[in-house]
Amino acid sequence: MPHDDFTPGTVWLVGAGPGDPDLLTRKAERLIARADIVFFDALVGPAVLDLVPPGVERVSVGKRSGRHSKDQGTIDELIVAAARGAKRVVRLKGGDPSIFGRSTEEITACRAAGIAVRVCPGITAASAAAASGVASLTLRGLARQLTFVTAHAKAGEALDLDWAGLAGADRTLAVYMGRAAAAEVSRSLIAAGRAADTPVMIAVNVSLPDERIIRGRLDALAFLAAAISDRDPALLLIGEAVVGTAVATHVEYEVA
Ligand SMILES: C[S@@+](CC[C@H](N)C(=O)[O-])C[C@H]1O[C@@H](n2cnc3c(N)ncnc32)[C@H](O)[C@@H]1O
Repeated sequence: MPHDDFTPGTVWLVGAGPGDPDLLTRKAERLIARADIVFFDALVGPAVLDLVPPGVERVSVGKRSGRHSKDQGTIDELIVAAARGAKRVVRLKGGDPSIFGRSTEEITACRAAGIAVRVCPGITAASAAAASGVASLTLRGLARQLTFVTAHAKAGEALDLDWAGLAGADRTLAVYMGRAAAAEVSRSLIAAGRAADTPVMIAVNVSLPDERIIRGRLDALAFLAAAISDRDPALLLIGEAVVGTAVATHVEYEVA
């Protein structure tokens, strides 16, 4: 008999990708179909949630910037309690669980409770954004490094980032949670030596029906980001590699 990788009382942290269910892995789809209970974040796309079978319990533990519905400790406790109740637990996380997804806290909580926990990867927002923009995140000879960085700061505090390190011309920056900090990102990178005309792309609601791709230059980043609602997830891509090609599948703006 084949090994069953989802026995009752175990937890899978499952990458839900950027929103389009076509961007789920087959494994994620299989785990969702077998779950007894699904805990999900605010950024998990509605069409992905539609794959949860009828009758299976769904628990929103959604966290959006500035609006935390459940704190991390509570989420950890809920997952552990469900597994102790002999349920097959899916913890659905937007994108890839290992990228700015607080997965370590949940893995640690499960392990401390003696509960088996595993991780199913997902497509992270940066990969999906590059794909939507028909661009690459790296570029032979020009973008030899790719840095995933979060620009989320505590309210009223400046970002504590290594701007000199991030400003190197040979890299692409994928800035998560960067909309509110766009002005600071732009100003600080240019002050640290990154060229003002470095290409930028802001990808909003990537892979969802209302996806938008906004292109421009680094010194206009704040202006470009100002048009985005704080309800919509947005990813900033910065660097020569992300120039990409305009495509007709979504709304594109270009600001010179
Ligand atoms: C808490 S982080 C989670 C990242 C996620 N684990 C991943 O791998 O994509 C949330 C941030 O990811 C980015 N993001 C997630 N989904 C997105 C989407 N569909 N479109 C644009 N950005 C997205 C945004 O920068 C958002 O603020």
